Order: sequence, then structure tokens, then C-alpha cells
Amino acid sequence: MRMTETSDLWWKNAVIYCLDIETFFDADGDGIGDIAGLAERIDYLAELGVTCLWLMPFYPTPDRDDGYDVTDYYGVDARLGTHGDVVELIRTAKDRGIRVIADLLINHTSDQHPWFQQARQSKENPYRDYYVWRADPPPDTADQVVFPDKEDSIWELDEKTGEWYLHHFYKHQPDLNIANPRVRDEIWKTIGFWLELGLDGFRVDAVPYFLSDVGLTAEQRDVDDPHTYLRKMRAFLGRRHGDAILLGEVNLPHEEQRTYFGANGGDELHMMFDFIAMQNLYLSLAREDARPLTRALLERPAIPADCQWATFVRNHDELTLDKLSEDERAEVFAAFGPEKEMQVFGRGLKRRVPPMLEGDPRRVRMVYSLLFSLPGTPTLYYGEEIGMGEDLRAEGRMAVRTPMQWSAGAAGGFSTAVPGDLVSPVVEGGYGPAHVNAASQVRDPDSLWSFMRGLIQTYRSCPELGWGDFEVLDQPHRQVLAHRSTWRTASVVALHNLGPEPVTVPLTLDVPPDSALIDLLQDGTCQVGPDGAVELQLEGYGYRWLRVRHDGERRLP
Ligand code: GLC
Repeated sequence: MRMTETSDLWWKNAVIYCLDIETFFDADGDGIGDIAGLAERIDYLAELGVTCLWLMPFYPTPDRDDGYDVTDYYGVDARLGTHGDVVELIRTAKDRGIRVIADLLINHTSDQHPWFQQARQSKENPYRDYYVWRADPPPDTADQVVFPDKEDSIWELDEKTGEWYLHHFYKHQPDLNIANPRVRDEIWKTIGFWLELGLDGFRVDAVPYFLSDVGLTAEQRDVDDPHTYLRKMRAFLGRRHGDAILLGEVNLPHEEQRTYFGANGGDELHMMFDFIAMQNLYLSLAREDARPLTRALLERPAIPADCQWATFVRNHDELTLDKLSEDERAEVFAAFGPEKEMQVFGRGLKRRVPPMLEGDPRRVRMVYSLLFSLPGTPTLYYGEEIGMGEDLRAEGRMAVRTPMQWSAGAAGGFSTAVPGDLVSPVVEGGYGPAHVNAASQVRDPDSLWSFMRGLIQTYRSCPELGWGDFEVLDQPHRQVLAHRSTWRTASVVALHNLGPEPVTVPLTLDVPPDSALIDLLQDGTCQVGPDGAVELQLEGYGYRWLRVRHDGERRLP
């Protein structure tokens, strides 16, 4: 493999940062974050070390699902700015070496989208088949709804035409009929449009839902296997923009997920979030036992060489624990969200990491060290780098969608508007801006922000982590994960202690004679014995990254 390949396949060891423009930075003082505001803060992200920005939906929307309900795929929400602002933002980000991807929402539109408005006019309307309809009363589908607090069926009766339309999510989000060639063309045009304006790819929303054939006639199902459609989409993306990516939201067991990477060296999604590892990470943290996470990592199926897992500890939604067993979920709830107001949809948590870990800085840093050391591409959700908390007063998932905390000033420096005009209230109390804000942390070498920046730099200097072969190292402590990633001649060993007590970890490493381990996150070196034996100390909730170095090799830092 030539070195150029590592930069061509930039997503293999990127640092992805997700944000919602409306809560990031308000440049014009109307209380709503905007594109111009984000453009002003790109240098902050560059300084942190972010290499890929993921923008949550910024399209026109009635905003009944925080922008995940779109009325125009080609538009820009006027509250946030214009197409001109989007292009300036992308240009500025690229100038700082940051690629930009955005949400692609093709499972459903808003019910206010002109297509749906047309479709519900009559059964003969030319837009009728843009959506999925059934004429006979639907069976009970209460167990298939995504939002059990609001919906009890995935079918909704449309009074005017007397038929039911499909909606896997809210009833105001009718599912598009992906089998309709005209809908397929619309989606391709949408992808092409945003690529032309400079995007480097998409975070593809709700992939298994839009590929599902629920409600389709036998004839419609025959048109194309859903994976064929995904393959065609990937080929189209590649023709238009060779190194653009599709990062899919596919919350399924690993084996099922594997099929969405495609065959032939990977011809469907480039990346997928690893929901299974994320959920098992919390089980491991709750039990102070690394084995659930270890098992999840070892059970990951092999994926095509050009593909990658996206690792994360939380995203913009509820911290879902839906793939754990009921007992396991109860354990995580008991440890990290025992109150009803901390839980949502019966399957997830409304909380961010630092409050869940009672603000223990050792533990918080250990979690992020672990995240960045795992095989995959780490994805941060805005505010994680400064340890923001959640607002439990906010409804459901809005608890973690509060304004970015820039300074200790009014509205956390997010906006100059009066509190009543803010897009959402700023977090109050111990995690409010007086205690948690970017301005003070950027200046403080001991802050979480400075730790994160250092971690990101080290991660970027360890291509083994994104590119290498992963192995779990044998050692006797169940609270410890010891793993190693090896790529070409380079190799990194990482150790994480999920428990509060210090431990000594004996390892036997398969390394050349006279090898040493060089600490990458702190000063330190340790010689490996002739038989590969070495003992490493870990503090309570401690973590270490060590590069294997031996005489005669080409030196990496
Ligand atoms: C995805 C998004 C979520 C949204 C849903 C419906 O799961 O992450 O925020 O509500 O799709 O679009």
C-alpha cells in the first residue's frame, strides 16, 4: 500500500465532530445559532484537531423533530442563513483542513413537504406514489414504532383519501416510497446538489428503515433489491465526488450491520456507527468490568478494507441501550440514570457523560482515552470536549441539545439575546457556563479541553488505531482492557482501568528482542523483557497508550 492511500481514505482515522448549527454560535444576536456563527468558530474546531464536521439538518423545516422533518431538500432554513453562508462555511472549514458532511434524510419528509401536500390531495395525484399507502386497515404495529411515547402505529389514516400512510417515526414524518424511480431520482439529485456545493459526504439517517420494504407491493419489491439501491447510490456518489463518504445510522446487531458495508471490497456504506460497542461500553463502565466491551469488539465482523466503524460515546439522540438485555439495561440505568426523568423511551438515557460519572475527571478522561484508542473513527458530539452536562428539565432528547457553552458570560456566550429568545435554555447549575465553558478551558493546560486536544493529536499520530489489526491482550484483571493495534511495522498498546483501584498489569508481548514501550500520553519508557514480559502500572481509572519501539526500525514519534 502506498502512503497516499492513507490520505485518500481519510475517514479511516478522522476525528468527526457533530453539531447542530442552531445551538452552536449565534452571530446575529437573534437567539438562534447560525451558519455565519459556526464559520466564526471553525478555528476553534481546527485548534481542537477536528478533521470532519458533521452538520445536523439545516434544511427548511417545521421543526417538530429538531430539523429531522424536512420540507425542501435543496433549501437552507432561513433562520440559520443562506446557501451563500453554507458555501462560505464549507470553504472556511476546508481551508483549515476540515471536511464537512451533513445529514441526508431520505426515509421520510415532513408532512408539510409540498410532495406530501400534493400526495394527500387524491389517489390519482402524480405525487401519490412518492409515499407508501395502504387501502385496508393496518394490523397492530405498536411494537414497531420508534417513538413509543407518542405513536402507537406505523400507519396513519389520511381522512381525505381514506387510506393509511406509512411513518416509522412520528406521524408527521411520512415515509418516502424508495421503490419509486422518481423518488430515487430526487434523492440522487439532492446528493448531487450538496456535493456540488462542497460537501464531502453524508450521515445517512435511518438506513434500515428507508431500505425496508414494509407496505410495498410485490411488484414494487421486484424492482430492485434494497441493497442494490444502496450500491447504486454509493456508485453515484463516487462518480460525482471520489472521496465522499456515506456514514450510516444502522442500529442493528453486528452481523446484520455487516451487510450494509456491501460486498466486493465494500460497495455500500463507507462507515457505520458502532451502536453495539457503544452500548456495551456503558455496561462495562457500570460493572467496572471490561468484558462486555471486549466481547462486543471481538464479535465485530470483519469489514472491507476501505470501510470503517465510527465509534462514539453519545450522539444527539437518546443514549440508546436498546440492544442490551432488559437486565443489562436495568444495570446501566441503576448506575447512570436511576431517576425516571433521566430516562427516555424506556430504552435510553437523557444524560451526558460527565454528570453520569459524577464529574470524576479521572473517569471522564479514561472514557475518552478509551474511545480514541478503539479501532474505528471517533465521533464527538459538540460540548463533549469541555465536559458539558445535560438539562433534565428539557423534553426527551432536547436535554442534550442545549446551547454550546463558550464563556462564563450571559447565555454562556452563545448569544447576546435575552434568555426568553434563546432557541433553547442554557444548562444551569454545576454544569452551567460559570463552571463549564470553552474560554477558560482553552487557556488552562490542565483542562478537559486541553486533554482532549492532546488526545486528538496523539490519536492522529497513531495511524495503527484506524488502520491496524486489533487484538485483545491477555491479562488477569477483569476491570482492565489491554489491547494492541498493529499496522505495518508500527504498533500501539493501550491499557484502560475501568475500576477505582490501582493495578499492575502483567503482559506478554510478541515483540522483537530489545523492544521498549514508549508512553504517548505522558513521559515514560519501559523495557520489555527478553521473553516479551512486561509489567505496567495503572492508576485507579488510569489509562496508558504505549508505542512499541525496537532497535533498527524507522522511528515514529
Ligand atoms: C434518526 C435521528 C433522529 C431522528 C430520526 C428521525 O434516528 O438521529 O434524531 O429523530 O432519525 O429522522
